[in-house]
Amino acid sequence: MSDKKPLNIGMIGYGFMGRAHSNAYAKVNHFFHDLEYRPVLKAVCARNKEKAQAFADAWGYESVETDWRKLIERKDIDAIDICTPNNVHREIAIAAAEAGKMILCEKPLAMNSGEGEEMVRAVEKAGVANMVWYNYRRVPAVTLAKQLIDEGRLGRIFHYRTVFLQDFTIAEDVPQGGAGLWRLDASVAGSGVTGDLLAHNIDTAMWLNGDIARISAMTETFVKERVHVESGKKEPVKIDDAATFMARFANGSLATFEATRYARGHKALYTFEINGEHASIQWDLHDLHRLSYFDHNDESRVRGWRSIHVTDGDHPYMDKWWVPGLQIGYEHTFVHQVADFIEGISKGEPAAPTFADALRTQRVCDAVLKSAETGQWLDSGLSSG
Ligand SMILES: NC(=O)c1ccc[n+]([C@@H]2O[C@H](COP(=O)([O-])OP(=O)(O)OC[C@H]3O[C@@H](n4cnc5c(N)ncnc54)[C@H](O)[C@@H]3O)[C@@H](O)[C@H]2O)c1
Repeated sequence: MSDKKPLNIGMIGYGFMGRAHSNAYAKVNHFFHDLEYRPVLKAVCARNKEKAQAFADAWGYESVETDWRKLIERKDIDAIDICTPNNVHREIAIAAAEAGKMILCEKPLAMNSGEGEEMVRAVEKAGVANMVWYNYRRVPAVTLAKQLIDEGRLGRIFHYRTVFLQDFTIAEDVPQGGAGLWRLDASVAGSGVTGDLLAHNIDTAMWLNGDIARISAMTETFVKERVHVESGKKEPVKIDDAATFMARFANGSLATFEATRYARGHKALYTFEINGEHASIQWDLHDLHRLSYFDHNDESRVRGWRSIHVTDGDHPYMDKWWVPGLQIGYEHTFVHQVADFIEGISKGEPAAPTFADALRTQRVCDAVLKSAETGQWLDSGLSSG
């Protein structure tokens, strides 16, 4: 590994995504042998020094910072990885860009597209490599879906149908805010399921099927008041607990999108189905290594839905892992994204989605929330729509 150039990582936040990314940095060179760079876990930053130190010890970070500004000032850091809640993405990203650092930022890009625009301007002005962690693009079965669509196997696309269902906020006594439940606090999360879940569906959908042109949405907040962890008092809930929208893509296809945290029995059921003139595709996060595919060109006697076990060496990313038939999972999507980011730096071609790509998703999220408020069909705000 000594032949690799170091890519010194400074990561901010050590929660769920902090672990997922740290694991990816640690593994990437073991499996992707041709990369020019080797991520070095230089520093982790969080406000609580003891907890940050414990995380650094567990994952092998060389040092700890408690103020992200200090981390950004450090000359020995090449890339800043933003794994904090959404309300601080903008400030950290702009400061990191001004300091000339590469930036890997968690999704959604920002609290809203106004913030996102500022972030895009900052990275473009600074000319720094930037990427947003919409990791589901890098599930091999999802990447295979992209290949099949780009090869024209589906023909004209008529329908796109997608959901992201969870059930963890149904109880009225679940509080809002604080370290564990910032997702329920609109001042920290920006929105509810729209930014947290639908943003993933939208990113994948526009990657697979092109821009969304128009939308009509409805949202609901089923539990109107919850105790706020910080004040200890009941406060209004300002996030969307559930969001559903209809869409027209620029290519003329029709779509439905749904996300909720009130679908009893579902923990993270992210699915999509695409119906084209010649073929259809289905994918399900609970069975993420399979792609269901129906091809009308098959001889009619044997025509039917196939369940492709996406584990062969000629499937996307799979030649890097085990042997055909042995599957990989969720954590590997982050390894793939790091590998693609590093390849992008070497080639001078940014790995997608960039901040500019993620801003397009953010614009659709904003349109969803606005349409739900006004009850009107709206343009997505994307120019090609
Ligand atoms: N790509 C995905 O699939 C995916 C999945 C989960 C979360 N996310 C995104 O990742 C981000 C983090 O989510 P999470 O689930 O890891 O959250 P988390 O609550 O598990 O971790 C957040 C971390 O940020 C730290 N933090 C908060 N404010 C900070 C500040 N001002 N300065 C420094 N550190 C601060 C916290 O101490 C904690 O370590 C969010 O933007 C979320 O939307 C993406």
